Amino acid sequence: LAEAIVALENFSLPVVVKADGLAAGKGVTVAETKAEAEAALDALFATPGAEVVIEAFLVGEEVSLFAITDGITVIPFGTAQDHKRIGEGDTGPNTGGMGAYSPATVLTPDLERRAMDEIVKPTVVAMAAAGTPFVGVLYAGLMLTADGPQLIEYNVRFGDPETQALMPRFDGDLAALFLAAATGKLADIEAVELAPRHALTVVLAANGYPLAPKTGGVVGKLPIASPEATIFLAGMTVSEDALVATGGRVLAVTGTGATVEQACNRAYTKLGEIEYADGY
Ligand code: GLY
Repeated sequence: LAEAIVALENFSLPVVVKADGLAAGKGVTVAETKAEAEAALDALFATPGAEVVIEAFLVGEEVSLFAITDGITVIPFGTAQDHKRIGEGDTGPNTGGMGAYSPATVLTPDLERRAMDEIVKPTVVAMAAAGTPFVGVLYAGLMLTADGPQLIEYNVRFGDPETQALMPRFDGDLAALFLAAATGKLADIEAVELAPRHALTVVLAANGYPLAPKTGGVVGKLPIASPEATIFLAGMTVSEDALVATGGRVLAVTGTGATVEQACNRAYTKLGEIEYADGY
């Protein structure tokens, strides 16, 4: 606690104080004053063994950049933005993601190059230099600040539901790409091209999600999917020939199109054909 209070001096206000590790979004305080920051530190360190992260408060638009690496070569694999809150118009509690779209054009080609050169590639170089080379997917959560892209966090996986918006834009051989990454041969692969079409994903969740999702709701016979409107099944199972919801995010529909509006319309049209009284 004493060290953390000293470290606070290195930050301007507001400052972010959070529990190190997963805290279901509950361990974060955006402190406007030094007293608030100190109170947050006090509260976090009241838990035995607690570790705490103090971070600069970044202002800007958040965007996700995906990359695949074999530990040396790094290939960008598209951009997306997800929508966290349960309600229409960015309202209500945070979720794992109620929808996503790709590409996120707010990350212009210039900004993407900067993010790759200043953030993602140096990360891969540093991990190799530390003797812990990283092989796999890097999902960089970026904030587009007035000073350019800044890293908020990495996930070492594709996102949910970002994946459902990314993959319908990839016409290549995903297995070949993963194999090249796994066997240190990414340098042999030409840059990955995602199709210029837009993709937009909407999640259908069980009523009560994210706080207390209702399980057991029956989903009606699914409509026929197509490349323009793909259905991804998630929190559901088959029980006595019926599709039954088992979890929070039950399924997702991705629409594709020449514009983001067209992709959105196709996603919602297909969603409208799905009968699921216990979801939203
Ligand atoms: N949609 C956010 C994530 O997968 O982390």
